[in-house]
Amino acid sequence: MTLEHYTREELDYILDTATKFEEIAAGREKSKLLDGKILATLFYEPSTRTKNSHEAAMLRLGGGVIGFDNTASTSIEKGESFEDTIKTFGLYSDVIVIRHPEMGTAQRAADITDVPVINGGDGANQHPTQGLLDLYTMRKAKGSIDGLEIALVGDVKHTRTYHSLTYGLSRYDCKIHFVAPDPLQLLPEIEKDIMKRGVEFDKVSQLTKVIEKVDVVYISRLQEERFPNREDAKKFRGAYTLNPEWLKDAKEDMIIMHHLPRLWEIPKEIDDTPHAHYFQQEYNGMVVRCGLLSLVLGMI
Ligand code: CP
Repeated sequence: MTLEHYTREELDYILDTATKFEEIAAGREKSKLLDGKILATLFYEPSTRTKNSHEAAMLRLGGGVIGFDNTASTSIEKGESFEDTIKTFGLYSDVIVIRHPEMGTAQRAADITDVPVINGGDGANQHPTQGLLDLYTMRKAKGSIDGLEIALVGDVKHTRTYHSLTYGLSRYDCKIHFVAPDPLQLLPEIEKDIMKRGVEFDKVSQLTKVIEKVDVVYISRLQEERFPNREDAKKFRGAYTLNPEWLKDAKEDMIIMHHLPRLWEIPKEIDDTPHAHYFQQEYNGMVVRCGLLSLVLGMI
């Protein structure tokens, strides 16, 4: 359910497996590897990429897809319990991807059904498949994650992607700069964990302090929906917008990542620079999910 407990060997194995699906994900090679298998996507929260890249991956591999992205069109609307919904989809499918606003829901689902459950994001907790595709993106762009300096910029506290990615990066020999205003900095429990693992990191408030030396700038949106009081989020709006001027100080081959959707963090003019890597990143999500679905279904 989280990348926290994965070893480096396990992470490398998943990334190596995903690499084998590049041609299939692109549609240049046909595959029937998951012919007859059914994926259920149960999205209690909105999604563009996580839901559709899992579904596209399943379709590329010859499988089928069922599920929902709006509980209003299901019997949840009539009061059906979470347990009964999960049991039902466990009967109709071979693997489930679930996204839910509450922490720990993917684990709850996995305790209810016998089919494998993939966490597509549980509240402000974790987003492990995004963490995997982020590792994949860095490795593919840079050849290795070892030796990289990576800035994680924005709402470090609430961004579940950063939680998962930080645990993933903690298995590699890289340096992480957490760039956020104090109230949105790294969660103490994650900081304690990565300190125990000997991860090299620092916490800074301005990207300009590290932009010259980093290989990756990963910026994300303010997670306003995760604030207990949404009004409190307003004062951080616009705190981190990537100024195209700053790129003059960046390494020539520095890449910019974003899990998307973006709001104001990356001005559109940056899309045409060689630094922009976020569309490649979201494409990689489909490649990685081809690998993951094949692994969890025991087909590879
Ligand atoms: N990256 C990501 O989780 O995007 P969606 O919210 O569109 O799934």
